[in-house]
Amino acid sequence: MKQRNSTLLSFSTTLLASGLSIAAISQPLAAETLTLNNGAPVGDNQNSKTAGSQGAVFLDDVHLIQKLQHFARERIPERVVHARGTGAHGVFVTDHAIPQLTRAALFSEAGKETPVFVRFSTVIHPKGSPETLRDPRGFATKFYTEEGNWDLVGNNLPVFFIRDAIKFPDMVHSLKPSPLSNLQDPNRFFDFFSHEPGATNMLTYVYQDLGTPASYREMDGFGVHAYKFINQAGQMNYVKFHWKSRQGIRSLTAKQAAEIQATNFNHLTQDLYQSIEAGNFPQWDLYVKILAPETFTQLDYNPLDATKIWPDIEEMKVGTMTLNRVPDNFFNYSEQAAFAPANLVPGIEPSEDRLLQGRIFSYADTQLYRLGVNHKQLPVNQPQNAVLSYNQEGFMNTNKVRSDINYQPNRNGVREDTKYRYHQQNLSGHSQQAAIDRTQNFKQAGELYRSLSSGEQTNLIGNLAGDLAQVRSAQTKHLILSYFYRADKDYGKRLTRAVNGDLAEVKTLAAQ
Ligand code: HEM
Repeated sequence: MKQRNSTLLSFSTTLLASGLSIAAISQPLAAETLTLNNGAPVGDNQNSKTAGSQGAVFLDDVHLIQKLQHFARERIPERVVHARGTGAHGVFVTDHAIPQLTRAALFSEAGKETPVFVRFSTVIHPKGSPETLRDPRGFATKFYTEEGNWDLVGNNLPVFFIRDAIKFPDMVHSLKPSPLSNLQDPNRFFDFFSHEPGATNMLTYVYQDLGTPASYREMDGFGVHAYKFINQAGQMNYVKFHWKSRQGIRSLTAKQAAEIQATNFNHLTQDLYQSIEAGNFPQWDLYVKILAPETFTQLDYNPLDATKIWPDIEEMKVGTMTLNRVPDNFFNYSEQAAFAPANLVPGIEPSEDRLLQGRIFSYADTQLYRLGVNHKQLPVNQPQNAVLSYNQEGFMNTNKVRSDINYQPNRNGVREDTKYRYHQQNLSGHSQQAAIDRTQNFKQAGELYRSLSSGEQTNLIGNLAGDLAQVRSAQTKHLILSYFYRADKDYGKRLTRAVNGDLAEVKTLAAQ
């Protein structure tokens, strides 16, 4: 309103100077008056300006033209994966300080509160797709810490399908609808996974009912990768993160998911919004697992392999997150949120995990395309502390630059502080293009299968068989079956029976 009044005032002053009366126009715009994007009031929002009753529409009907132009530009590219999602604001409270492990400011003292924004999502299906479909679920958290934003961009399952970023576009292509038919097709993704035995563990997670959560509130979250914790003394430990839902874990059977889909396929978004609006704030405890680098060689698996959990390592609780506010606009917050594993803070660094290394590049890169070079100036992405960088200009920049020093080194501007240098790692060896060591593709999948109740095993077999039975290639089908057989003989046999496979063939392939 202030702006409108002052515009009117300067216009009035001009009129006064010219001796004209302003009595008729000196009222400020009523708060409810519709305006154009330049703030000017709209006189008619029902009828275009035409040449009489039979004539054509005038091109100088600025209001009409602006409306049509803006409408045609409403959509931005949806995320290439995780397009369907919903977010909420909240707070993370540290209850166990860990300065001996990390210098990260948010973990420095008990009782410290850090605002957060969380976005939950499905992975493969597009923006308006049913929330009932089987998929891992994204669980991305942006911590607005005093030393910058830290994004923990995880999933509701503790492992991943692949271990090298170079396979991610291929995997996603196989899981997305066919470029010819636009239909998702198990023939395509099982073809891909038959070449990726390391996916057996993740497939055993996602084909449980965990792949169809009952609500976003009732699922855990995992950072999946190993990250590095660095303390003030520069000591490094590897760390994995785990959000444990205080609401417990509840999933849908395939039958329940189909029933819900028939009546309300937005149940996850609705449940989250309605719970928060009713004051029933969901909470998650954050746990960390720590692994000293010296112990790496003693393990029979590679701890930097995203297809593996770290079994037998105790978790330590460090704090609790509460989601307590629904964003007042879906597009501004959930859609324009830019989570990136590259958003790290002092004390938390990426490990050498090859999948994570690719993600460090990929998210920041896609967000330059999806949202533009200045997307970190949008309220949902803006750090709480001042951003003092000499990166400048670009589309849609709202930075208020007050100095002509935009270079470094300089005499009177800002400078780096060497205490924030990256952790230094000893290196030796040569460059290579080779698989990681200790791939151990099947052991954890077998342990996972045996840890399930008999009902959970039955649902897992039924869910997997539903998709695998559609695979026409006998070779693909039997290779996949041989992986589950190698994980656990009972698992492989039951699945082979469920899809009318040839057990002798499965055993032969498993032995190779
Ligand atoms: C090399 C492997 C991966 C690549 C290249 C990759 C790439 C991407 C890209 C390009 C996006 C869209 C980002 C945007 O437009 O804002 C995305 C979203 C996402 N990814 Fe990944 N991804 C990978 C693996 C993973 C893994 C292992 C996890 C879980 C630990 C994960 C979790 C997520 C989540 C939660 C989102 C949605 C974030 C949001 O809510 O905006 N991704 N991924």
